[in-house]
Amino acid sequence: MPYENILVETRGPVGLITLNRPKALNALCAALIRELGLALDAFEADNEIGAIVLTGSEKAFAAGADIKEMATKSYMDVYLADFITHGWEQVTKCRKPVVAAVAGYALGGGCEMAMMCDFILAADTAKFGQPEITIGTIPGAGGTQRLTRAVGKAKAMEMCLTGRMMDAAEAERAGLVSRIIPAADLVDEAIKVAERIAEMSRPVVMLCKESVNAAFETTLTQGVKFERRLFHSTFATEDQKEGMAAFAEKRTPSFKNR
Ligand code: HXC
Repeated sequence: MPYENILVETRGPVGLITLNRPKALNALCAALIRELGLALDAFEADNEIGAIVLTGSEKAFAAGADIKEMATKSYMDVYLADFITHGWEQVTKCRKPVVAAVAGYALGGGCEMAMMCDFILAADTAKFGQPEITIGTIPGAGGTQRLTRAVGKAKAMEMCLTGRMMDAAEAERAGLVSRIIPAADLVDEAIKVAERIAEMSRPVVMLCKESVNAAFETTLTQGVKFERRLFHSTFATEDQKEGMAAFAEKRTPSFKNR
């Protein structure tokens, strides 16, 4: 289907979604969020796709929710529409891994959207921030929660209360991003990483993602127990048999996603 605010392509087993509102630095308007949800659903349903990369432009991953669209909304507008839960959480509900490739600004809802992805690869130009306080509001798509879990209370509190941005080096030191990549190579490298994930057994990748995500929702004892159950369940797959047989036979496994 034709999209107006995003570009959608496939690169082999990787679905690539590029936020594409250059004039507004990819501000996340309602139409963009709707399109993103549709594109994610389509990749989720596509058996040829094993992982997804979400990226923006060189200047901005996304400079936040669309301030001009939000500016005049009333309390009842946002409450009744459950703004912004609807649509955004599609990123977190996707069972296939979603890699955020962030160059330039990832601010407000842009930072929150990157943090909803499974991990963030950052260009050396990336800048992360939650500047909502400077426009009289607070993060509303999980920023106070996910940033705090990612970088700890001190940095998250300072960033949310002052709007200070973090550059790529600080974000890597703080554990917000998995790696820094030269800006010119960011998307190619993110696709390579996603291709590597797509080579693995799809059901086992999903179980693994589910288990890591459980670490944010449970106690250690419950999380370890949950992991063990999922670990056991991988032994019900043909792919675990194939993976271990291939290791013993010194060959590359051929996973059947079963
Ligand atoms: C709507 C935006 C926008 C945004 C930028 N633009 N960010 N429009 N919503 N979040 C528009 C500008 O109005 C401008 O349009 C064009 O993009 C280029 O932006 P400039 O400001 O001219 O660029 P620059 O001087 O390079 O500054 C870049 C910037 C700045 C530092 C990123 O644009 C900025 O501070 N943006 C807002 C960041 C922010 O506060 N984000 C949080 C939003 S609240 P025109 O038409 O003038 O050329 C939020 C809440 C989330 O995200 C809650 C849950 C979703």
